[in-house]
Amino acid sequence: MDKAFFEGLSEEQARAKLSSLAGDYCEIYHKRKEYQPGDHISYGGRFYDRREMENLVDSSLEFWLTAGRYVEDFEKAFAKWLGVKYVSTVNSGSSANLLAFMSLTSPLLKDRAIMPGDEVITVAAGFPTTVAPIIQYGAVPVFVDVTIPGYNIDAARLEEAYTGGKTKAVMIAHTLGNPFDLAAVSEFCKKHGLWLVEDNCDALGSEYMLDGVLKKTGTVGHIGTSSFYPPHHMTMGEGGAVYTDDPLLHRIIRSMRDWGRDCICEPGQDNRCNHRYDGQFGLLPQGYDHKYVYSHFGYNLKITDMQAAVGLAQLEKIDSFTALRREHHAYLYEGLRDLTDKLILPEAAKDSVPSWFGFMLCCREGVSRNALVRQLEEKGIQTRMLFSGNLIKHPCFDSIRKLEGEKYRISGSLANTDRVMESGFWLGVYPGMTQSMMDVMIGEIHKGV
Ligand SMILES: Cc1ncc(COP(=O)(O)O)c(C=O)c1O
Repeated sequence: MDKAFFEGLSEEQARAKLSSLAGDYCEIYHKRKEYQPGDHISYGGRFYDRREMENLVDSSLEFWLTAGRYVEDFEKAFAKWLGVKYVSTVNSGSSANLLAFMSLTSPLLKDRAIMPGDEVITVAAGFPTTVAPIIQYGAVPVFVDVTIPGYNIDAARLEEAYTGGKTKAVMIAHTLGNPFDLAAVSEFCKKHGLWLVEDNCDALGSEYMLDGVLKKTGTVGHIGTSSFYPPHHMTMGEGGAVYTDDPLLHRIIRSMRDWGRDCICEPGQDNRCNHRYDGQFGLLPQGYDHKYVYSHFGYNLKITDMQAAVGLAQLEKIDSFTALRREHHAYLYEGLRDLTDKLILPEAAKDSVPSWFGFMLCCREGVSRNALVRQLEEKGIQTRMLFSGNLIKHPCFDSIRKLEGEKYRISGSLANTDRVMESGFWLGVYPGMTQSMMDVMIGEIHKGV
């Protein structure tokens, strides 16, 4: 190809032509291989076609590089799809959790701000970065046990975990797409005036009936978070989002995401508010450039337009992805339901329609989880633990383990959490799964138990 390729084309036409060529490239070189017995069966992964690659090339040729029109379009489209007012994209689900939590420490929240030493109710059976921001800030996570086979917080134990004057928030995930008891948890939060952060990283598209309205998970609490890492419900490679309906929280989230600044200009924009030089902030001189006024100790967690471009193409397909995840979960359930004397099968929360991230199993007594998982992996079937199992048992707790009661607290027993750690694992249900793969998975599990 030489410069003649571009002859007579406007920049826009040239970009469209190159993007379309990238789409053709995708169809030729990224074609999904038909599954053959013995092939590796992933638990999850990117599921895409030419649209993602066309968008990616288009945004890269535009070469804006940082957050631009694609990010703006994605945030708007994602907010509409979720049914929330405000979305802020960030560079990972972990960053989304960090930002969600830290926004609740903002002085702008006055006496509702979480302070070091305050308690936040959570679980230990889950992903570490739901809990990490609480500890990093110096607040105290209070660990409550989960139920089996829902694998979510045991809502009946919330009151027991509450400390008047200290508990400020509940921050928990919808485990593997299965919503936690949103009715009970949000009622508990309302009763005590607590913040509710829904880590929705593994549950995008899950729905829950609350007061007669079917709502998407992540949109019931004060803040919801998403991850767009490849195995998740949709991907940007790396990426995440924080969402809320609360204008003040949104303002804080944007400020902390974007260096802690007070100003709301987009990257590359100046003087959007027309008051760039006429305010007085902190102890700064009157008229100090508002673009460089900082109301928080912030981060820079923004994404690039290339990530958002991929995300926009994925978002067009999210409902079909959800449908496939539900179908695959139901297929595995049917194939394994005769094994309930050996394995505990997953159970959807009451009043919910999960968009499953995975198919969770717990081995009953007499079945070795380790032996079964090893056998499945040897046959090329990828398995996953329920992330940390029991986070408190991990080396990251070594330095604070002796400081139980001060740095963290355990409310009651974590017997089910330990059981998940010892005998639980999960299988994939992602859109790339096929019936023949699932038949192999079902067959191998029957052989292994
Ligand atoms: C429940 C939960 N929260 C947060 C995250 C972190 O997301 P990320 O990998 O994008 O940082 C994950 C990761 O899989 C997760 O499962």
